[in-house]
Amino acid sequence: MANPPLAMLAELTHRCPLSCPYCSNPTELLAKDTELSTDQWRDIFQQAADLGVLQLHLSGGEPASRTDIIELVVAAREAGLYTNLITSGIGLTPKRLEALDKAGLDHVQLSLQGVTAAMADRIGGYKGGFDRKMHVADHIARIGFPLTLNAVMHRANLDDLPATIDMALRLGARRIEIACVQFQGWALTNRSALQPSRAQVDAAKRVVKDAIERLKGDLVIDFVPPDYYSDFPKACMNGWGSTGLNVTPDGTVLPCHAAATIPHLTFEKATDRPLAEIWNDGPAFNAYRGTDWLPDLCQSCERRDIDFGGCRCQAMAVLGDASATDPVCRKSAGRAVLDNLLAQEETPTIDVPDYVYRKL
Ligand code: SF4
Ligand code: FES
Repeated sequence: MANPPLAMLAELTHRCPLSCPYCSNPTELLAKDTELSTDQWRDIFQQAADLGVLQLHLSGGEPASRTDIIELVVAAREAGLYTNLITSGIGLTPKRLEALDKAGLDHVQLSLQGVTAAMADRIGGYKGGFDRKMHVADHIARIGFPLTLNAVMHRANLDDLPATIDMALRLGARRIEIACVQFQGWALTNRSALQPSRAQVDAAKRVVKDAIERLKGDLVIDFVPPDYYSDFPKACMNGWGSTGLNVTPDGTVLPCHAAATIPHLTFEKATDRPLAEIWNDGPAFNAYRGTDWLPDLCQSCERRDIDFGGCRCQAMAVLGDASATDPVCRKSAGRAVLDNLLAQEETPTIDVPDYVYRKL
């Protein structure tokens, strides 16, 4: 039997008022009529808690697009789960935020597309979105929700990193997650427009190092550097099937957010089979769990139990082989493919990139 998962990401809906070019959701989104009902989610939350899950991340799309978001938080709290709402803020009125507080919501993660209305509204593809988000942030602070700011960084906004950190302080966030864009799902469509330059990445690392020192005790800073500029991969999901699972809007249970991009895997639905069975025995979960399956290069490597060969979905996206060593790894043959892509993309050929916006 596998160790129990610690966290579950519930993708309540793919609907979203924003259309960010870096969206990591799949290129084919699920329509509203395929979404699970309130009762189906309630049952899954209870099954997750019984399985050992402690933290529930309510995500989307935009989870506030679900009219039953308050009931879903109540259901999650009744199951004894710590609840975190990952939101753009659009659709959260003061009244709904107060109801979420009453329902027992523990934490809010607010996304930030930019530090000015011009930048944020351009990236989100939603005019007026920034001003609405700032109002929502005021109400989050007034109610007193613990707040994490999620800033996805890329070529167009990485130079604004100091102002982004200042904004986290101004909004009263306890934590900021500065995540350089991960090229999965829709973001792959816009990779060349989003790819930062090496100079930007080096400058960002200096800014983060200085801010971590300077703001110790005031703000926790998590920095996710861009994969393509790293020498070794991250332990994606802390290792496949080890600590977390995702449930998509129609109830499909995935080992990670992008696992559905791996065509040979078979995924099961929480409405067809108990969650515990899927976690412990599901073919998709066992495909890359642990280290037995690792290629020879990783088997004999001192980082084998640190990164577990990296990200399966990245190996799939870049090399077309989910069983290969993550091409981020300097030791892998696939690194040449990544370096080649980077050489083409790191120097922008246009000042204002043309994004392909995400639409449902
Ligand atoms: Fe990680 Fe495999 Fe590279 Fe070693 S060879 S650093 S285990 S990806
Ligand atoms: Fe799927 Fe990394 S996103 S393993």
